[in-house]
Amino acid sequence: MKTLKEAYKNYFTVGAAVSAHWLDEAAETVKAHFNTVTAENEMKYNSIHPHDYQKPDFRHMRPPKPGEKRELPPPPPMTNRERFVHPSLETDFSSGDKIYNFARENGIAVRGHTLMWHGNYPWGMFEQLEPEELEENSIEHFKMMSEHYPDCFCWDVVNEAVDDHGGYLRETVFKKKFGDDYLPEIYSLARKYFPNALLCCNDYNEFNPQKRDSILKLIGTLKERGVVDVVGCQCHVNAQMGDKQFDEMRRGFEMYANTGLRIHVTELDVNAIDWKNPDKLPPADLERKVTETYSKLFGIFREFSDFIDNVTLWGVSDRHSWLNHFKNEEGRKNFPLLFDEEYKPKEALQAVIDF
Ligand code: GLA
Repeated sequence: MKTLKEAYKNYFTVGAAVSAHWLDEAAETVKAHFNTVTAENEMKYNSIHPHDYQKPDFRHMRPPKPGEKRELPPPPPMTNRERFVHPSLETDFSSGDKIYNFARENGIAVRGHTLMWHGNYPWGMFEQLEPEELEENSIEHFKMMSEHYPDCFCWDVVNEAVDDHGGYLRETVFKKKFGDDYLPEIYSLARKYFPNALLCCNDYNEFNPQKRDSILKLIGTLKERGVVDVVGCQCHVNAQMGDKQFDEMRRGFEMYANTGLRIHVTELDVNAIDWKNPDKLPPADLERKVTETYSKLFGIFREFSDFIDNVTLWGVSDRHSWLNHFKNEEGRKNFPLLFDEEYKPKEALQAVIDF
């Protein structure tokens, strides 16, 4: 059987998100099948600068019922402001290094993920900084990351900056502090510190026409300043996706390709669980749907391979996937990736390799 990277060598490079927690058990599979890796969490702000101000995460819970409120507790008072103004005062590169060094030792390229994200920062603390202080923080963080991880071939700069509900940009602490036009400035900062890396604008629900148009608008603004190179299409999809969604995906790829930027598929996985109707199909049928979906997706990626340079899966084996927990209080089994819980190739892998 061919490996994934052999099968796609004339199309695009293939990657996987990996975690320092389970990298050792996945190492042989990663070395055999993938050209690139992304750190699942280990290069995000909270891993590099550990602290106690984590936003409570409701994502593993079922979606709230209509009218049901999940209130965030008030964030604790801030102590030691200096460490938030100067992130270099407290750093821990150990898990990021584990992934980075593994990749370099094995000739695997690293996608940097991510320099700024509303989903991962000292929650409640950045809110209390003056804009100038948060700016100092960003400059210092970007600089440190560029010095410590100089060889990432691409960086997701501001992750998921576009609004989900029909507006243009997402309301985040960064937008609030830096102003509505903050993104070209942040991307310019990335260009300054990572002059040799591709800069990527990465987002999800990227084929939803409304969100796609906002992403295109943002890309236009960044392109004018020459500070973006890649459109990052996360591709977290569901096995229930139908023809209409596959068509929207094709249309989206066409429009992203027309921007003149390159495209990366950055976080591909196929969720077997339909959150709205979780128990509709028995596991064997769900598994078959996952396989069919993968097969169609890679067909589309091949169609657009003149524009797509990298396809990264968000994980390696079904043993470790964020989808095993996300909106899954009941602990239903999910099988969103290409290798099973024992790292054995699944039919889905066979299906994307045999085309
Ligand atoms: C987003 C982020 C990723 C990862 C996934 C799954 O898509 O970009 O870093 O956290 O969510 O949790």
